[in-house]
Amino acid sequence: MIYLLSVVSFAGLTVALAGMLMIAERLLINYGICKLDINAGEKPLEVDGGQTLLASLYANEIFIPSACGGKGTCGHCKVTVIAGGGPVLPTETLLLTRKEIRSNVRLACQVKIREDIYIRIPEDLLNIRMYTTTVESSVDLTYDMKEIRLRLNDPPNISHRPGQYVQVQAPSPDGPVFRAYSISSPVYEPDIVQLVVRLVPGGIGSTYLHNLKPGDYVNFTGPFGEFLLNPDPSVEIICVGGGCGIAPIRNIIYTLYEQWPDRACWLFFGCRATRDVFYLEEFEELAKKYPNFHVVYALSDQLGEDEKWDGETGFIHLSVDKYLEPGVRRQAFLCGPPLMIEAVTRVLKEKGTSDIFYDEF
Ligand SMILES: Cc1cc2nc3c(=O)[nH]c(=O)nc-3n(C[C@H](O)[C@H](O)[C@H](O)COP(=O)(O)OP(=O)(O)OC[C@H]3O[C@@H](n4cnc5c(N)ncnc54)[C@H](O)[C@@H]3O)c2cc1C
Ligand code: FES
Repeated sequence: MIYLLSVVSFAGLTVALAGMLMIAERLLINYGICKLDINAGEKPLEVDGGQTLLASLYANEIFIPSACGGKGTCGHCKVTVIAGGGPVLPTETLLLTRKEIRSNVRLACQVKIREDIYIRIPEDLLNIRMYTTTVESSVDLTYDMKEIRLRLNDPPNISHRPGQYVQVQAPSPDGPVFRAYSISSPVYEPDIVQLVVRLVPGGIGSTYLHNLKPGDYVNFTGPFGEFLLNPDPSVEIICVGGGCGIAPIRNIIYTLYEQWPDRACWLFFGCRATRDVFYLEEFEELAKKYPNFHVVYALSDQLGEDEKWDGETGFIHLSVDKYLEPGVRRQAFLCGPPLMIEAVTRVLKEKGTSDIFYDEF
């Protein structure tokens, strides 16, 4: 008991001291204007010291990926800091490999600018733009899921790859924040970005998006994401999603069939109960048009007495295991909760598939 009390008091003291240091730093220390040099550019930016590197980049309209909005949980905001970033913080080590740390890779949302700083980022990120859009429609898909269709104003078109995401700017009491949402509309609709958004109770981004009405304006940056469809039509495509993870998958499937009408593709979609099922009829219609497209929905929760369901049951990795033969050349895209991704990856690897892209959300 005494041991427990000492541990709790020590932890409390440490947190309190860290908090006091942060407040003291904010109030008392002025780092002045610092130079921010990107890719050994000819003209370094001048930024206010004391901000995070991520905030300074955004203030200068350099939009690197930051899917968690700077909370230090997604690991998407990696940049190479050549000099001036200070020591690697404990909040970064969980999301950086040893090799990355040795190569001076840092999380931009955790690095504070306290002196002149020299960084390297991929050139293509310098082309990421802020888009202004108007809400064309907002439709309920389920009790907590909405489909939101945005028509682009400026620039009027976006060029993206299937499976990529945008970062929507949402207002918050502490100023604008960014949250990642996958593009569910296909790439051949360049003037539209459609989203599928699950409402997270109390969540800043999802509440903002759920309250939008047609005619409202929305800003986002993008596109971001590493998904890259294999252009070899003999490679079978496997899409596995859960919840709002259907968004990038819908984009992949429509884009795929516009380009390769004969291509083999499986869609596995995991839902808890019938009330979470959406887009099933739409995908079944598509499967009638494209005979090599197969749709499997599975419900994971025990079926209630009033639920009628003649599809699969159990977690979605069980359906993947049941339907896929081993030894076929495949590429897989997995989008959903981490546990689903872990289980499906295991099954796919057992079947000989290692070309796997995934987004956890
Ligand atoms: C690459 C990528 C793509 C994504 N695509 C989509 C998409 O297409 N559709 C979509 O709806 N979301 C998507 N997300 C998730 C999205 O970015 C937000 O994280 C999510 O909407 C919650 O943000 P929020 O601002 O509403 O909640 P926050 O204000 O960030 O969080 C509020 C509270 O809810 C908790 N919380 C945060 N996220 C979740 C969650 N998922 N489940 C339960 N509790 C949570 C937080 O810990 C916090 O306590 C994606 C995420 C990534 C990384
Ligand atoms: S923005 Fe998510 S870890 Fe930095």
